[in-house]
Order: sequence, then structure tokens, then C-alpha cells
Amino acid sequence: VKAFAFVGSMRGTKSNGYRKVKEFLDMPYWKEYEKEIITADMVEISRCRGCSACFTKGICMQDQKDDMQKIKQKLLEADVIILASPVYLHQVSGAMKDFVDRISYWTHIFRLIGKRAIVFSVSGTNGNEYVDSYLKKVLTTMGCYVAGCMDIQINKEDYKEEFNEVIEKLEQSFQHPEQCKPTAFQQELYDTFRNRYIIDEVGCEAAYWFSQGYFQYDSFEQLLKAYL
Ligand SMILES: Cc1cc2nc3c(=O)[nH]c(=O)nc-3n(C[C@H](O)[C@H](O)[C@H](O)COP(=O)(O)O)c2cc1C
Repeated sequence: VKAFAFVGSMRGTKSNGYRKVKEFLDMPYWKEYEKEIITADMVEISRCRGCSACFTKGICMQDQKDDMQKIKQKLLEADVIILASPVYLHQVSGAMKDFVDRISYWTHIFRLIGKRAIVFSVSGTNGNEYVDSYLKKVLTTMGCYVAGCMDIQINKEDYKEEFNEVIEKLEQSFQHPEQCKPTAFQQELYDTFRNRYIIDEVGCEAAYWFSQGYFQYDSFEQLLKAYL
């Protein structure tokens, strides 16, 4: 079992996001896990050029030139994905935005379905809710089940109780996957894409849906059940 965390801070191991995610993953719960934390300064992630080749051809020309291919592989191999972002003016950091832009097309193919995810937002004092809601939306749109959001503020040190609550929710999702309900937005997306791709004979997104057998389900809830 693997846990992979991407921290959208350029401050490396000094970053509060990095320190808190590390503290979280150092808890006994994760002892059987293979764990990796990457901060944005440790890797090269070029900004999306907007060519849309990912949507039309399923490939990103920049993947050959920077570290994104490697990072995508880590995301696909992970059982639990953690996205942690600094709160910058009530939004994710630019580094986190560059990262999610490069995997945008995964939102059309539920590429991370079956994975559990956790969000960390890290602020001085305020604005965590905007980052939580944005990253939660990104992850659920890619098919993840989000077990919880951790709001970190730098003037508070002890998050043991909140960490335990998220871990409990995560463990619950492994013990009782049938209780992991999809969000209304996931259901809506599934219906929209299903109607669009089922009549699309050329697109790479439709081809992915066919290859994965996504069309055989009547609802996202059924699809999710097959993967969790
Ligand atoms: C450009 C910038 C914008 C920030 N905006 C906010 C903000 O809107 N609200 C807040 O509480 N803290 C804000 N902060 C403080 C950071 O969220 C805080 O320093 C946090 O620890 C950064 O995460 P890191 O330590 O993982 O890099 C901002 C910091 C920077 C550099």
C-alpha cells in the first residue's frame, strides 16, 4: 500500500505544509505504507501551455521535458493521495495550480477512481475553506473519494485530534467501501460525460471510457462501487 503527497509549496522541508503532512504520515496508522512526500521545489513542473493535446490526444508534450510523467506515475500507483497547498490570497498556490492544470484531463476520465484522497490547506490564519473546497472538487472530479480536509493554521501546533478524525474516516472507507457515497457533482459529471462520449467514436476520452467499461454502469455510484 502506498501514500503519495504533493505539497504545493516552494519552501521545501521548511514549509508548514510539508511539516504537517510529514507529522501526519509519521503516525503509527501508516506504518505498513510506503510513503512519499514531494514539495513543488523538488521537481520541475512546467506551466500548462494550453495546447489541449491532453484532451484531444491523451498526451502532454511537456511530460517528456519535465518531471510530470514521473509524478503522474506516482499518483496512479498510490492508494492514498494527499494534496497539500499553502493558502495564497484565499486560493491554492501557483505551484499547486500548475500541478493540477497538468492533470486537468483526468477530470474527463475519472482517472483516479478507486483512490482515497486527503486535502491539507495551510494558512497563516484564514482562507482555508476556499482551498479545501477547490482541491476537494479537483480530486472528486478525478474520481477520488475524499476522506477529509485538514485545515492547518501556523499559530496552532497540535492537530492530533483532527489527524485521528481523518484517519478514522479513511479507515472506514477501506472497511466499508459501500458506505462511500459519491458527491452530487460526481453523479452530474458522470451523466454529462456518459451522454457525450457514448456517441463519440473518435475522441480519446471516449476511447478511455470504452476501454475501462465505464458505459456499462447506470450511475456513478455503481461505477464507484466497482472500483472502491
Ligand atoms: C503570497 C502569499 C499569500 C498568502 N495569503 C494568505 C492568506 O490569504 N491567508 C492566510 O491566512 N495566510 C496567507 N499567507 C500565509 C501562508 O498561507 C502561510 O505562510 C503558509 O504557512 C504557507 O505554506 P507553507 O509554509 O507550506 O509554504 C500567504 C503567504 C504568501 C507568501
